[in-house]
Parts: sequence; C-alpha cells; structure tokens
Amino acid sequence: MTEIDRPAETLPDALSRCADAVAAALEQAIARAQPVSDRLSRAMRHAALAGGKRLRPFLVVESAALFGVPMERALPAAIALECVHCYSLAHDDLPAMDDDDLRRGQPTVHRAYDEATAILAGDGLLTLAFEILAEPTTDPDPAVRIALVASLARAAGGEGMVGGQMLDLAAEGRFADAGRPAPDLAGVARLQELKTGALLRHACEAGALIGRAAPPEMAQLNTYSRVIGRAFQIADDLLDVEGDAAAVGKAVGKDSAAGKATFVELLGVAGARAELDRLVGEAHAALAGFGTRATLLQEAARFIAERRN
Ligand code: IPE
Ligand code: IPE
Ligand code: MG
Ligand code: MG
Ligand code: MG
Repeated sequence: MTEIDRPAETLPDALSRCADAVAAALEQAIARAQPVSDRLSRAMRHAALAGGKRLRPFLVVESAALFGVPMERALPAAIALECVHCYSLAHDDLPAMDDDDLRRGQPTVHRAYDEATAILAGDGLLTLAFEILAEPTTDPDPAVRIALVASLARAAGGEGMVGGQMLDLAAEGRFADAGRPAPDLAGVARLQELKTGALLRHACEAGALIGRAAPPEMAQLNTYSRVIGRAFQIADDLLDVEGDAAAVGKAVGKDSAAGKATFVELLGVAGARAELDRLVGEAHAALAGFGTRATLLQEAARFIAERRN
C-alpha cells in the first residue's frame, strides 16, 4: 500500500465538512429528481435534510479516501446510502412501527406532514438512492455501479435492514405467526447486525468499491465495519437508557417499554460500556494495515461508541 499524503484534519472538522457536502448534494439530488408534488418534495427534504450526523456518508467518503479518492468522487454513493438511511428513519418512526414524534430534534415526517406522505417520502428517497447509483457521475465504470447497486440492495432489503426491522418488531411480540428472536446475546447480535449493521457494512464496501480496493483491503474494511456496526447499536441502546430526549433529538426509554432485549439489558450499563471499549480496540486493529491513512476511521470508532446523540 502506498502512503497518500492527506492534509491532517480533526475528526470533528472532517465530520462537519462531510455533513455540509452531504446536505448540499442531497438538496441538489432531490431537486433534480423533480418530485411532481411540491408536498412530496418538501416531505422528502424534511426527511433527508433535517440534521443527522451523516455518519454513513462519512464512512463511504473515508473508506474511499484510504485509496486516494477525493470526497467529491465518493459523494454520490455516500448520499445514495444516506437516502436509504433517511427513508428507513421516516418509516421506522411511523405509528405502525415505533410511533415516534421527534427525530433529529424535529417533528417526525408523519408529524410534520401525514402518514401517507411520510410513507411516500420514504419510498421516494429509497428509489432516488438507486437512481443516483445508476448515474455515470457515481463511478465511470458500469461494473462498479452495478456492484454498488447490488451491495446497497442487499444491505437495505429483506436480508439486511428491512429484515432486521422485521425481527425487531417480532422481538416486541407483535406477530403471532413469526416467533420471537431469542432474547440472548446471539439473538440480539443477529437482529442488530441486520437492522443497523447492514447499512454500515455497505458504507465501507461502497468506499472500497469506488477505491478499487484489493480483496485483502476489502476484508480489513469489512471487519472494521462489522465491529463499528455492533458498537453503533450498543451506543444507540445506551442512549435509549441514559440519554436525554432533548440532547439525543429523539424519544428515549422506548426499548425497555417495548420489552425489547438489548445488549444494555443483557450486559448491564457497565458491561455494555466495557464491550464498547473492546470493540473500539478491535476496530483500530482491523485498520492497522492502512497506517496513518486510517486515523480518521479509527477515531470514528471511538466517536461511534461515545456519541451523545
Ligand atoms: C439512528 O441512526 C438509527 C439507528 C440505526 C439506530 P443515526 O444515529 O445515525 O441517526 P442520524 O442519521 O444521526 O439522525
Ligand atoms: C431503527 O432502529 C433502525 C432503522 C433501521 C431505522 P431504532 O428504532 O432503534 O432507531 P431509533 O432509536 O428510532 O433511531
Ligand atoms: Mg425501530
Ligand atoms: Mg425507532
Ligand atoms: Mg433506538
């Protein structure tokens, strides 16, 4: 691996630079898609542009940067993923799912508009994601674009995020004919790998595809993404137990109210924190082969574990 000189940037600076670029690119992409209804367009913008850490796009951009790809080149794939993430949140918040009123410190999409509009805004963002990936500006090589489409489809669909969401609702005992995932560490880990982990894995895979990573480099990024996926959801579950809705920007205390098994419930708060520490170490080690080029991604693992929103 050749060392590629990049200007040193702190993680907060890099995150905020990326978040600004993502917001601008999402704004343009939604405008370009020309939703025929102004109300639909506004609801899509509400779902996609009302804040958010933009962590998944950041992981795309930084994974690609390991291979010398500038942010602008990784941005289309990064915002495609963020479109899917924002759609998943709009649907997750619906009354039929988690029934939440607050997201990113703002009213949820169905609260700001109505349920049907929130469903359609989510559908519009999901579809827009694949339109973006199909565009030549995403990558000049059609084979890479097809690989990106396949990777995002797998990560988002029934074998990924959507499957995990179904297991998550089943864990609340909602479906008489679906059984309940085992409320033990293995059961919770599987559910969370799908519900949250799949999109984070895609983020690093997308960056690797755009960066033309060799198989061993792909494998290292894959390990890193699996580890941070787990850390991400443990941190989310900790925020649900310990966080304050105003700071977190969404309702808290919902998991135990729904009778849901989480790592925090199974390991206790101290045990979950110890697991987070262990995972941060593992994430660092996974990228050791990239040298100092991976510093921001390594720091992102600690950020994911210790985030306050
Ligand atoms: C929240 O994701 C939903 C989960 C998968 C737990 P984020 O914490 O990344 O939400 P935003 O995008 O920053 O709002
Ligand atoms: C949802 O998980 C993850 C998605 C796929 C949207 P949660 O239901 O725990 O996410 P929050 O806590 O509402 O953000
Ligand atoms: Mg949910
Ligand atoms: Mg939810
Ligand atoms: Mg949650």
